[in-house]
Amino acid sequence: MCGIVGYIGDKIAEDILVEGLSKLEYRGYDSAGIATIVEGDTIRRRQVGKLIQLRNELANSPCPGTIGIGHTRWATHGAPTQDNAHPHHHAGITVVHNGIIENHHSLREELREKGHTFSSETDTEIIAHLIGRYRGEGQDMLTALRTTLGRVEGAYAIAVLDQLDDSRIAFARKASPLIVGIGQSENFLASDIPAVLSHTRSFVFLEDGDHGFIHHGKVEIYDEHENAVERPIKTVDWSPVMAEKGGHKHFMHKEIYEQPRAIADTLRGRIQPGTLETTLSEINTEILNSIERIIVVACGTSYHAGMTGRYVIEKMARLPVQVELASEFRYRDPILNDKTLVLAISQSGETADTLAALKEAIEKGAPIMAISNVIDSAIPRLCEPSGGTLYTRAGPEIGVASTKAFTTQLVALNLLAIELASVRKTCSDKTIETAIDALTRLPREIENLLDLEDDIKAVAREYVKADNMLYLGRGSMFPIALEGALKLKEISYIHAEGYAAGEMKHGPIALIDENMPVVVIATPGLGYEKVVANLEEVKARGGKIIGVGHESDAHLKSLSEQMMPINGSEDSVSTVLASVPLQLFSYHIADLRGTDVDQPRNLAKSVTVE
Ligand code: AGP
Repeated sequence: MCGIVGYIGDKIAEDILVEGLSKLEYRGYDSAGIATIVEGDTIRRRQVGKLIQLRNELANSPCPGTIGIGHTRWATHGAPTQDNAHPHHHAGITVVHNGIIENHHSLREELREKGHTFSSETDTEIIAHLIGRYRGEGQDMLTALRTTLGRVEGAYAIAVLDQLDDSRIAFARKASPLIVGIGQSENFLASDIPAVLSHTRSFVFLEDGDHGFIHHGKVEIYDEHENAVERPIKTVDWSPVMAEKGGHKHFMHKEIYEQPRAIADTLRGRIQPGTLETTLSEINTEILNSIERIIVVACGTSYHAGMTGRYVIEKMARLPVQVELASEFRYRDPILNDKTLVLAISQSGETADTLAALKEAIEKGAPIMAISNVIDSAIPRLCEPSGGTLYTRAGPEIGVASTKAFTTQLVALNLLAIELASVRKTCSDKTIETAIDALTRLPREIENLLDLEDDIKAVAREYVKADNMLYLGRGSMFPIALEGALKLKEISYIHAEGYAAGEMKHGPIALIDENMPVVVIATPGLGYEKVVANLEEVKARGGKIIGVGHESDAHLKSLSEQMMPINGSEDSVSTVLASVPLQLFSYHIADLRGTDVDQPRNLAKSVTVE
């Protein structure tokens, strides 16, 4: 959480920093600020609230200079106030920070005893004070930076200005993401690629413990042992327009519409219709042959993807799959061994709980693997020496509510199931062929579903004033119900619950009356009759049913107040299809209610604190 950006070059830093922050706002939007250096003075502007507040201030009081740093905040230590907004400044040193300094209380006390006074409640201000103090004691900037890093415990990505030296920006990272963008006579620091994608596609992905400086024309990197190192420069194939709204009202809407492309990209080169093979070259397929079970660890939407993937993997590969909330996993001393693959699913590749769960797995000797959307992020890096990472190729997902990342995760899990089945020879050729064909058809089928947006918007209009909603599904549609409910609550703030349809009678049915809309996913296949029976029970108690099912399902239609139809395809991928109308339904309800769809209250896209 929190996004940081830095720039040094010949251009006006303010423009580049604010543009970068606009692409990082998904990481937090409680406050924003930038600082530059002009003729030995630090100029700092900070505002509470979204970036627009800072933009308004900069319109009246610009921040000149060609070197600067910026920050967008998701508050951890201290309320979202102007004093707590970054950058923090002390004795000529200005710092932006993403992460948490765990020992900040004791450091603060120590510094107070030495006469320091603080102007914020943040952990970050400690860093400015420590570096400023060591500089004041005569240490050069590199030494002061290292001395400070030696004193702080926790996670950090920092960018530091020293007003005595405007030829470079210092940086350091440990357990929080930080990349260096390489330009022509200019260089950038950023928490994530989209922040500087309109300026460069060449990036250095810093390692934990890396620290150093960006200058106009060079980058100086030292590793955790203080040795100078050269890190490889990688070129990313994301284009700048991928991080723009492209005519859509919200990023979420654009990202829903990108799903046919994102899924086609995720499949590209990995399957061929009419064949019986997958080509998953980034993962260690040997591991897949030797394991006896899989434990999926993930959070939020990615957890729902894992829950959905369990059905297809168990069915095709006959391998037991357990799906765990990463935030709970390591606190119960999980039983792991070298025959248990721990599979992390994470769009961002940097979710703290998922990362910690993987570290627990490594300690216990289990092989690890990931499904992720962000190349070289922390989770894929951790998996590199073990099982590797199957990348979803969704492109940057900026809307806080995950959409295309989720459906591409489902596709990746289908690919993994096919690979497991063919490596372990647990399926007939016919089953594999059918699964591959179904995946191949998916992009076109989603395009067809997107054509029904107006109908779904009309359904959304009916429920815009609802206070509560229930989502029901059975089998692999149960996690899709959970995901539908999560989507609705996070962007519309309507209380929504996902339930396994069979659980209705065990409690939630007590909630049903004419004021309780119930979204029921009832697709043909295993359990269909039972879901319809549950639906009859809801109907008998006056509940309003919104059916999600086959276009041709007259029975479902007759029981439902409204239908959100999905068209054909195999059972294994109908979960992907069912997700699309649910995304659009939530989107339109939220939009009609006038909430901030892309940046819902209290949330941040990457949860890098536990
Ligand atoms: C979903 O809409 C949320 N943004 C959230 O639940 C998210 O899926 C979760 O925080 C996990 O993130 P990750 O996939 O980046 O690890």
